[in-house]
Amino acid sequence: MIQTVRQASSLRGTVSLPADKSISHRSAILAALAGGRSRIYNFPRSADPRSTLDCLRTLGVDAERDDDGVLTVRGRSLHGLNPPSAPLDCGNSGTTMRLLSGVMAGQKFGSVLTGDESLQQRPMERIADPLRAMGARVELRDGHAPVRIRPQRRSGLQPLEYRLPVASAQVKSCVLLAGLYAAGETVVIESTPSRDHTERMLGLDIQEVGGERHIIVEEGHIVPTATWSVPGDFSAAAFFLVAGTLVPGSELHLDDVGLNPSRTALLEVLDGMGANITVENERVQGNEPVGDLTVRPATLSGIDVGGRLIPNLIDEIPVLAVAAACAEGRTQIRDAEELRVKETDRLRAMSENLRTLGADVQEREDGLIIDGNGPNLLGGTVQSQGDHRIAMAMGVAGLVAHGTTTVADAECARVSFPGFWSELSRVAST
Ligand code: S3P
Repeated sequence: MIQTVRQASSLRGTVSLPADKSISHRSAILAALAGGRSRIYNFPRSADPRSTLDCLRTLGVDAERDDDGVLTVRGRSLHGLNPPSAPLDCGNSGTTMRLLSGVMAGQKFGSVLTGDESLQQRPMERIADPLRAMGARVELRDGHAPVRIRPQRRSGLQPLEYRLPVASAQVKSCVLLAGLYAAGETVVIESTPSRDHTERMLGLDIQEVGGERHIIVEEGHIVPTATWSVPGDFSAAAFFLVAGTLVPGSELHLDDVGLNPSRTALLEVLDGMGANITVENERVQGNEPVGDLTVRPATLSGIDVGGRLIPNLIDEIPVLAVAAACAEGRTQIRDAEELRVKETDRLRAMSENLRTLGADVQEREDGLIIDGNGPNLLGGTVQSQGDHRIAMAMGVAGLVAHGTTTVADAECARVSFPGFWSELSRVAST
């Protein structure tokens, strides 16, 4: 699908956001591992969480959505999953593959996890290494999926103390889920904190030791049956926060947005650039902070972003690059080499696409240098490269670029935000 976006004169209204992708995956997996019935309110129809549900169904988990959209999952407990009759197809979803590999490592049956072309190019040694250190038998093809996991030996998984070599919530969660099956205490140590949904949802013990976080999962930790309520996805909101900042005459409202501090560094960065975003009605829903956001236009200045902030805005960097291209002055994004191993190489994709629209962008091994030129982007044809966040970020750029912008392969937005293009055109006046 080719999506055409015209320069907008304003964006106004309340945006309907999809439910948080990270929390959705985890709610479904934990519900499947619990020993009874869980209910999940606001489970999204996005492709990635659906991949997780489909895999769980292949493992014998009964999950049904009622007329009100509430998903009821009948958990099979830690040891009650069925051997899969086919490979587990994780689609485009790295979270599905990495988290479920942790669960599969603890099973007495073997499994194979596979995915689409993009997912088969993403690094999987990062999960195979710790799982092997726990005694799991994991085989990869050249460091990549398919991930083949042999049945667990009779002795079971060994506990592990694991210092994450890369700040990754997916790797952290994989080891913690495998830790549920280990004979003893598994400790994951992170020096740079990443999103903490898994440890929150499992109710794990966390200790701060010498500036590092130790996340502890004990043998026999009970996975609770629960009523989960998934908040709006901050990473989806991010596109509209930048769009509402850049398009003059805008006022956008985004309600019930997840505001977990391990996810919201973009608010801090946009604030530092001069944005006008207000947060109201802050409250706690389940075990996650949520709030209502309003964004109004502002003139942005360039900023330096790097270090510990990066994991907390990792998925928002593509749209931050759009904000930077429309700011006054230089923005430098450092320490973001992880973007090269996402659904596509996001540093390359954003620098190529923004340059197509006339922006001044230099690619660095670990980031981007963007010399913003105010609202002077020019419409053109850009490539999503099949990556949902690249497609949506470039859709936002199209709202500010003079003339018309065409986003090729735009349908991939459905991976995390099925209604993205219709929401964009609904709130936009040209
Ligand atoms: C996610 C973690 C992040 C993020 C991804 C979702 C998660 O990946 O980019 O979109 O739900 O755990 P990494 O953990 O690999 O950085």
